[in-house]
Amino acid sequence: MAQTLKYAFPDKFLWGTATAAYQVEGNNTNADWWQWERVPGAILEGHTSGQASDWWEDAEADLQRAADLNNNAHRLSLAWDRIEPEPDGFDQAAIDRYRGILTKMHDLGLEPMVTLYHFVNPIWLAETGDLLADDIVNRFQKYTAKVVAELGDLVAKWVTVNEPMVYIVLRYIEDAFPEPKDGRGWANGMKALSNLLRCHAAAYHTIKQVYPQSPVGVAKQYRPILAPVGGRAAEVWAGQLSTLFNDFWMRAMTDGRLRLPVGTSKISYLAETYDFVGVNYYTYSNVAWPPSPALYDDAYPDDAIVGDGNYGEIYPQGMMMALVWASQFGKPIYVTENGMPDADDDHRPWFLLTHLREVHRAIERGIDVRGYYHWSLVDNFEWERGWTQRFGLYALDLESQQRTLTESGKLYKKICKAGGFAGGDLAKVMPAGY
Ligand code: BGC
Repeated sequence: MAQTLKYAFPDKFLWGTATAAYQVEGNNTNADWWQWERVPGAILEGHTSGQASDWWEDAEADLQRAADLNNNAHRLSLAWDRIEPEPDGFDQAAIDRYRGILTKMHDLGLEPMVTLYHFVNPIWLAETGDLLADDIVNRFQKYTAKVVAELGDLVAKWVTVNEPMVYIVLRYIEDAFPEPKDGRGWANGMKALSNLLRCHAAAYHTIKQVYPQSPVGVAKQYRPILAPVGGRAAEVWAGQLSTLFNDFWMRAMTDGRLRLPVGTSKISYLAETYDFVGVNYYTYSNVAWPPSPALYDDAYPDDAIVGDGNYGEIYPQGMMMALVWASQFGKPIYVTENGMPDADDDHRPWFLLTHLREVHRAIERGIDVRGYYHWSLVDNFEWERGWTQRFGLYALDLESQQRTLTESGKLYKKICKAGGFAGGDLAKVMPAGY
C-alpha cells in the first residue's frame, strides 16, 4: 500500500480502462449493428459508427495513451464479425491483427482482459436468428475454440459475455438494439437468455480445457433498482425485478439453475462456471410506479446531477451496493466498467474520485476487489445513442481524430501512478454543497 495516501489501494491492484470492439474499431461492416445503424430512427440523431475511434487501423496509439495514464491493465473485446465473417470461414488477417494489438498491450505493460461477446453478432449469424438459433451454442463454442487456439497465450483474463441482462432487455424487451430475426418479446428474450447462459458455459469449459489457470468471468451490470417509498406491493414488485435483473444470471452461473418467472430449469454444465465477478456499475433506476410496460423510470430527483442525455444520477453509494452484492459470490471482484457521459468533463473528476472512494472503502471492509477499469479510455460509439454521449478520459474529435486528455484523465493518471489519492484531491473536485 502507498501508506501516505488516505485512499491507498493494494500494490497489485489493476488500474485500467475498458473498451469494446464495435465501439472503437471503426468499419465493422460484417456486424449486425452496421446494418442496424442504417435503419432510419435506430440511432439518435442518425449517427453511425463510421471510422469510430480508428482502432482497427491504430489501436496502438490509444493503448500507448493508456500506458501514459500509468495503467497496468486494459479490457477490450474481440469482434466475432471480423474473426468469422462467414460461417466457418475464419479470417487469419483479422486474427493476426488482434495478435498485434494484444502483443502491443504486453509490450506496454497493459494486462489484457478479453471479452468474447459484447453486444454484436456477425451478419450471417444474425440472419440465422443468432441467440435463438438451434446451433448457437455450437457456433459460440467453435468461435471461442478458435480464439483460444490463436490468441489464448496472450490473454490474461477472459470475459465470456458483456452485460447479458442489459443485452437481453435492450434487444428483446425494449427496441434499442438490433431487431432479432425472430422478433422481440418476453418469450424470445427468455429463450435467448437461457441460450446465452449455455454459450457462456460452453465458452468457460472451452477456455479451461486449454488454459485451466486462466481466470474466466462475465461483466455483469449491477444496477440498484429503487422502489418508491410506501406501498408493500411496490416493494415486492421491485424486489422481483431486481432479482431478475441483478441476480438471475449470477445465481444461474453459480448452481446451474435458471429461475425464470415461468418456472425453474437446470443446465447441467453451467454450475460454477466463473472464477471472478466482473461488475459494471453506472447508476440506479427507479421502479416504474404504477407499473408500466417501460419497467424502469429514469426520472431522477430535481436536484440530482445526472450524466448527459439523462444517463442517470451520479450515485457513488451504488458502487458500494454493487460490491457488497458481488461479494456474496465469494470470488475475486473486478470493476469491469464504471464511468459517465460528460462531454464537458465538469462532473467526471468527482464522479471518478467518489466512486473510487467506495471501491477503497469496500476493500477496507474486506471485499476482495482487485481492479478497476474505467469506461472509457476514449470517446466511442455509444450504441443507440450514437456519439451523443462521451465517456472518454480522452475526448475525441471525430473528424480530425484528434484526442484531448480531459481533466479527469489527468486525475486518473495521477491516481494510477500513486496507487491511490489523498483526501485533499477529493476536496478539490467536489461540487459545492455535496
Ligand atoms: C456497456 C458499454 C457502454 C457503456 C456506457 C455498458 O452498458 O457495456 O458498451 O458503452 O455501458 O453506456
